[in-house]
Amino acid sequence: MELRDQRVLLTGASGGIGLAIARALHARGATVIATARREEVLDGLKADLGDRVETLVADLTDASDVAALPERAGRVDVLVANAALPASGALVDFTPEEIDRALDVNLRAPLQFARVLVPAMTERGAGHLVFISSLSGKAASPGSSLYSATKFGLRGMALGLSEDLADTAVGVTTVFPGFIRDAGMFAESGTELPSYVGTRTPEDVADAVVRSIERGLLEVDVAPLSMRMGAKFASVAPGLSAKLQRRMGSTELSAEMAKGQAGKR
Ligand SMILES: NC(=O)c1ccc[n+]([C@@H]2O[C@H](COP(=O)([O-])OP(=O)(O)OC[C@H]3O[C@@H](n4cnc5c(N)ncnc54)[C@H](OP(=O)(O)O)[C@@H]3O)[C@@H](O)[C@H]2O)c1
Repeated sequence: MELRDQRVLLTGASGGIGLAIARALHARGATVIATARREEVLDGLKADLGDRVETLVADLTDASDVAALPERAGRVDVLVANAALPASGALVDFTPEEIDRALDVNLRAPLQFARVLVPAMTERGAGHLVFISSLSGKAASPGSSLYSATKFGLRGMALGLSEDLADTAVGVTTVFPGFIRDAGMFAESGTELPSYVGTRTPEDVADAVVRSIERGLLEVDVAPLSMRMGAKFASVAPGLSAKLQRRMGSTELSAEMAKGQAGKR
């Protein structure tokens, strides 16, 4: 699908990766319907990019905001479901409300948006849905149970949806970023990675989103080869992979990340 003149609904547009995705889509000639809770950040994006940016403030933990958003957005040719909470840490340390918030933002809202937006796309004979998962949606690690539940869930949903839409002109992509430096929920956690663990940038994720829409890709990883291979290995041998990860210090790393992200529950 060519992005020029398409209307793209982008959730999480105020975040580290969302801002990069908004810029990349805009640069390809799309109109970006940018949504998040922080109005001042969305206004800054609009001031920065000029025309072809529309902003919609919505809280994805609020079911009525989720229900109203597709209609407020008008025609949507492409959905990029990018908003998420980091949801890192041991499951037993979350309150029931924190668990609900993570499920609402990371999983329920993308499902609801897809349900509402797909019929109009199939009727028009064109459309694309992009779900931003994570390598934690392919391989679990200590302190990832809630986040991985949402990110594995997105992958399952997207693969199933893609099958439902196999005979239509509507494409579905899941994007799996690894550790992203410079901006976003990992960078802001202040976690120090061991020197052998590579990272990618928000712009790399944005490039992957653009490529996936333009080429109709089913899944795209955004991470160094070693991490991509690690995630593949984890899906065929999860027990052994977890054991190796623990030996390499995954428990300490996850604890540090959960501490740095505790304010975003
Ligand atoms: N950063 C990484 O290393 C990394 C790695 C793998 C995957 N990812 C995925 O990449 C995506 C973007 O992450 P990021 O790093 O850009 O995170 P971020 O900087 O924390 O941004 C999160 C975005 O989600 C929005 N959001 C959170 N709660 C919301 C709510 N209740 N209602 C509406 N919007 C809400 C935030 O907007 P407001 O606060 O303005 O509402 C913000 O725009 C996520 O799906 C994340 O899981 C990130």
